[in-house]
Amino acid sequence: MSEDPVQTHVLAIANQKGGVGKTTTAINLGAALAASGFRVLLVDLDPQGNASTGLGIPVSNRTFTSYDLLFDPEPAAVKPMDTSVPDLQLVPATADLSSADVDMAPDPRRLHKMKDFLVDRAREIGVHDYVLIDCPPSLNLLTINALVAADSVLVPLQCEFFALEGLTQLIRTVQSVRGASNPRLRIQGIVLTMYDRRNNLSGQVAADVRENLGALVYETVIPRNVRLSEAPSHAVPAIVYDRTSSGAIAYQKLAAELLARLRKERPLVEQV
Ligand SMILES: Nc1ncnc2c1ncn2[C@@H]1O[C@H](COP(=O)(O)OP(=O)(O)OP(=O)(O)O)[C@@H](O)[C@H]1O
Ligand SMILES: [Mg+2]
Repeated sequence: MSEDPVQTHVLAIANQKGGVGKTTTAINLGAALAASGFRVLLVDLDPQGNASTGLGIPVSNRTFTSYDLLFDPEPAAVKPMDTSVPDLQLVPATADLSSADVDMAPDPRRLHKMKDFLVDRAREIGVHDYVLIDCPPSLNLLTINALVAADSVLVPLQCEFFALEGLTQLIRTVQSVRGASNPRLRIQGIVLTMYDRRNNLSGQVAADVRENLGALVYETVIPRNVRLSEAPSHAVPAIVYDRTSSGAIAYQKLAAELLARLRKERPLVEQV
């Protein structure tokens, strides 16, 4: 409201393809933004709960979850959790989120549940500069809820042979959400993940993606880096686990590039 000058930016991290680096990006980009002085809320919107586990929140401690957030919680119940990273808070997920699609189905506001809470009841969850939503590997009702609530979408794309497969469908979904429910939604960018510079295929895929998608693709490329895959088992982001690792450095660069792009606020999706 008027006395609060903070403009929260809601960023959905989405790709219906599994295992492309959505959760790794949500955790490490979130941590990098928090380390840059921003207040960040990560919403784990995947029933797998990988972001919650990767940030060291045991299932037994997940009291206020993303399922609760979607189902009109009492104000007193709204409690995002602190993580080991200062200024990085979390709304964790539990397996009960897997029934959310079915449970929301009879509700005429089913596409807007996330927005109704995150945007319209934002003050209850505290002040954040960025809300990052880690989406499940599907274009289901959960992902649509994230897209309806979001200002923009960040798409991690794995450097592998079929990288572009499925992207058309995701772009079409973004366009249809924009047309029907959320006119401000745009694709913020596409980030290439798991890039292996010793593998020619990675270079070819990166070149191909850049040729097809041009300025949508971030200059920053996330390398394949074992520290990024080890960090979740130590319950911390890579930036805490090994600040000097190539993965941690890449996510800090990605955060800087994202911030620079947001300052320019170009509707890049119109280029595809
Ligand atoms: N840059 C990277 N280098 C090495 N390993 C990575 C990298 N990015 C992700 N991984 C590993 O790859 C696996 C898949 O990554 P992640 O869980 O982030 O993908 P996802 O898109 O969230 O998957 P899902 O679709 O199942 O939610 C994980 O084991 C993760 O640790
Ligand atoms: Mg994931």
